[in-house]
Amino acid sequence: MSTTYTFPKNFIWGTATSAYQTEGNNINTDWWQWEQKIRPADTMPAESSGIACDSYNRYEEDFDLCVKCNNNAVRISIEWARIEPRPGEFDQNEINHYKKVLIAAKGRGLKTFVTLHHFSNPIWFSDMGAWKNLESPSIFARYVNKCVEEFHELIDAYIPINEPQVIALMSYTLGAWPPHIASYAQSLLVQINLARAHSRAYRVIKKHGNYKVGLCQNIAWFYPAENSTNPIDNTSATVLNFMNKDLFMLPLQKYIDFIGLNFYFTSRIKEGKRENLDDVQSDMGWWIYPRGLEQVLISLKRFKKPIYITENGVADAMDKIRKAFIRDMLIATNNAMQQGVDVKGYFYWSLIDNYEWQKGFWPRFGLVEIDRENNLQRKPRPSFYYYSEICRNGKIEA
Ligand code: BGC
Repeated sequence: MSTTYTFPKNFIWGTATSAYQTEGNNINTDWWQWEQKIRPADTMPAESSGIACDSYNRYEEDFDLCVKCNNNAVRISIEWARIEPRPGEFDQNEINHYKKVLIAAKGRGLKTFVTLHHFSNPIWFSDMGAWKNLESPSIFARYVNKCVEEFHELIDAYIPINEPQVIALMSYTLGAWPPHIASYAQSLLVQINLARAHSRAYRVIKKHGNYKVGLCQNIAWFYPAENSTNPIDNTSATVLNFMNKDLFMLPLQKYIDFIGLNFYFTSRIKEGKRENLDDVQSDMGWWIYPRGLEQVLISLKRFKKPIYITENGVADAMDKIRKAFIRDMLIATNNAMQQGVDVKGYFYWSLIDNYEWQKGFWPRFGLVEIDRENNLQRKPRPSFYYYSEICRNGKIEA
C-alpha cells in the first residue's frame, strides 16, 4: 500500500546554483587567481573553472529548464567581483546584466532567491585580508546597499552570505580554499566578522524596504551510534550540533527573516570517532541519511522562523540514486512538517552539473547533465522528470 505525502499549495519548488560555479570567466575573483597558479597535478584545485557552464550567456536556457521542471522559484547568486571590480567602483554593465537575468527569471514566473556572496571574493577584497579585516562588514555593506538600490523587488528573497561557517572552515581552519590559512584563532575572527557582516547587511537591506532576508547555513546532523554505550558519543554529538548550528545562529536571531538550510551530511559518532554507515553513498563518498534532515529540521524549531531548504542534492553521475534521494529527503521534510516545522520550500542542488570548487567538474550534482564534450549541451536526466512531477503535483506517492 502506498502513502501520499502532500505539500501545501503555496510550497516553493526550486533548484539552486551559484554564479561562480556556473557563469564562467569570473576573472576578478580570488578563486580565479588561485586556479591560474602553476601547481603540481596532485594539488588542488583539480582544474580551473574556465567557462564553467557558460550560464553568464546561457541563463535563459537554464531558466527554461526550471520552467520545464515545473519550478516556481530559482536560487542563483550574484558575483560581487563583477558588480564591484575595484573598491567603491561599480560596473553598470554588469549591474544591467544581472537586471536582465532577474527579469528573465521573473518573466518566467520564477520567484528569485538571490545570494549576494557565494564563497568567491573580489581580488581587491582578498588583498585587504577579506573576512579577517575588521572593516569587512562595512565594505560588504557598501556592495549590499548597491545591490538593493539597483535590484529592489527583482529579488524576492535576499541571502547576503552563503554558509558563513563553511567559509571559515574551508578557508581559515582547514586552509583548503583561498586564502589557505589554517588557524583556529583566525577562523574564529572570521566567523565573528561574517556574523557582523550578516547583521549589517540585514539592516542595510531593511532600510530600503521590507524585503525578506535569510541566513543560509550548511547544517550537518551528528548523532551517537545506535548501540553506543560510550557517553563521549552523546556529548560529542551534542557539542558538534551546537557548534554547527546554534552557536552562530543564536546571536543573529533578530537579523533572520527565514532560515536557509543547506543539508548534505549526517555523521554518526562511535567511540568518539566519526563512523558512518556505507549503505548509500554519493560519488563523493557522502553518506545519504534522510533521517538526518528530519532531525535537523526538528532541531531548528527552536528558532521559530520559516525554513527554506535552500540546498539539498547528491553527486551521482549515473543518476542511479538521485530519484530515491529526492523522494526520501522530501518524505523526511514532510515528516518534519507534520511535527510542526514550518518548511516553506525546497531547492534541489543543483539544476545543472557545475564547478564543484576545489574538486573541479567531476562531481555531478545536476538534475541536468552538462555535456562538457559537446558544447556544454544541457541534457535532463531521468531524475529531472521525476522531480518535475513532484513539483507539478505538490505530492509524493511512496
Ligand atoms: C555549497 C555549494 C556546493 C555544495 C556541494 C554547498 O555547501 O553551497 O556551492 O556545490 O555544497 O558541495
